[in-house]
Amino acid sequence: MKAIQADLLDFTAEPDWGDTQSPAVRWRPAHWLLVGDDGRIAGVQAEAPDAGVQRLDHRGRLLMPGFIDTHVHSPQIGVMASYGTELLDWLNTYTFPAETAWADPAVAAAGSAHFLDALLAHGTTSAVVFPTVHKTSAEALFAAASARGMRIIGGKVLMDRHAPAALMDNVAQAERDCIDLIQRWHGQGRNSYAVTVRFAPTSTAAQLAMAGELCRADPTLYMQTHVAENRDEVRWVSQLFPSARSYLDVYASAGLLHPRSVLAHGIWLDADDRAALHHSGAQIAFCPSSNLFLGSGLFDWRATAAAGAKVSIASDVGGGTSLSMQRTLADGYKVQAMAGQRLTAWSALHAATRGAANALHLGHEIGSLDVGRVADLCIWDWSVGAVDTRRLSMARDLHEQLFAWMTLSDERHLVGTWVAGHNKTMRSAA
Ligand code: GUN
Ligand code: ZN
Repeated sequence: MKAIQADLLDFTAEPDWGDTQSPAVRWRPAHWLLVGDDGRIAGVQAEAPDAGVQRLDHRGRLLMPGFIDTHVHSPQIGVMASYGTELLDWLNTYTFPAETAWADPAVAAAGSAHFLDALLAHGTTSAVVFPTVHKTSAEALFAAASARGMRIIGGKVLMDRHAPAALMDNVAQAERDCIDLIQRWHGQGRNSYAVTVRFAPTSTAAQLAMAGELCRADPTLYMQTHVAENRDEVRWVSQLFPSARSYLDVYASAGLLHPRSVLAHGIWLDADDRAALHHSGAQIAFCPSSNLFLGSGLFDWRATAAAGAKVSIASDVGGGTSLSMQRTLADGYKVQAMAGQRLTAWSALHAATRGAANALHLGHEIGSLDVGRVADLCIWDWSVGAVDTRRLSMARDLHEQLFAWMTLSDERHLVGTWVAGHNKTMRSAA
């Protein structure tokens, strides 16, 4: 048993939109978090633990559940911050060429290790990940996640048209690869498989149908894709699938919209689409830094949530400009502000922890500090420089403190990331 003393923050329910005084916030300053030898949270207490329990002193620091990034691309670290394009040109100019290199198992293995270490160094302990079309890229992702004990959801990307030849599969081969990967990795350790349709333009109707069949055959599988990110993309989909009511309907018709579906972006959806999301139980991964960087548009979180659809939050690196979930949330606040909405620190931090865990049906395992949850944790400094120290010192209440922290902090504030009770990155010896 170990005990960590810090300012503990997590959520017991979903905070109401706009409520800065939410009763769903569980704030336990200078409390002790007990971590069992099984890597799970054993308890929280105000009193110091018995002698014999190893004590770790992080008083004056923030401890939260590890962040959950629900949409990020492992081969795109080297594509971040690429100048001058919107989505479709960005894919052709920068992204597809970078992904081609991952056909090489050595590149995929080294890239996956680097990518997951980077997630941990930003305080992200769980993620829903796109590797590349190559089977070896999914193997490398799951192997590297297993080596680190991380909770990862991913799968080989499906794309059988409108892409460079080196990045295309075909229906039969893709189906064989998926079935083999599912058998070997789905439910192995902390890995889960996601049927991974890149987006409707790069899959034939036959491939979408095959992907839908995989989902139907095993309802424990996840599905991940992109939807309604960019206006040119939406127009292209309406030409490619003229009988579909909407872009989202292409996926719904193929059996790809279900409670374990994670759809990135969802900017250009209408009320019927939002209702379909609600009825299916699928979630939108809101990717604000990507949406701003690629000029894609302003996602309407409030309308999506009001329709009863689930919303989580994601970096979408390399369209996004940082793996930091605080930076992502800060951009999320600004995107909502452009629509006259206010994203509280509570809604934001909940979406990146307990909200994402619940949306992924993993709330029994991750996303909170409840007893029995896996001890995937991060310890953060409240401030690291003169400016944020000054701002934090002025905070008059807890929401103001957390909002300023969320808006001003990033990976420089990370003191340590714990995965299943093991310290993976620790800045100081403490
Ligand atoms: N749509 C299809 N592929 C991608 C991708 O790699 N990134 C983003 N942001 N959108 C996509
Ligand atoms: Zn993406």
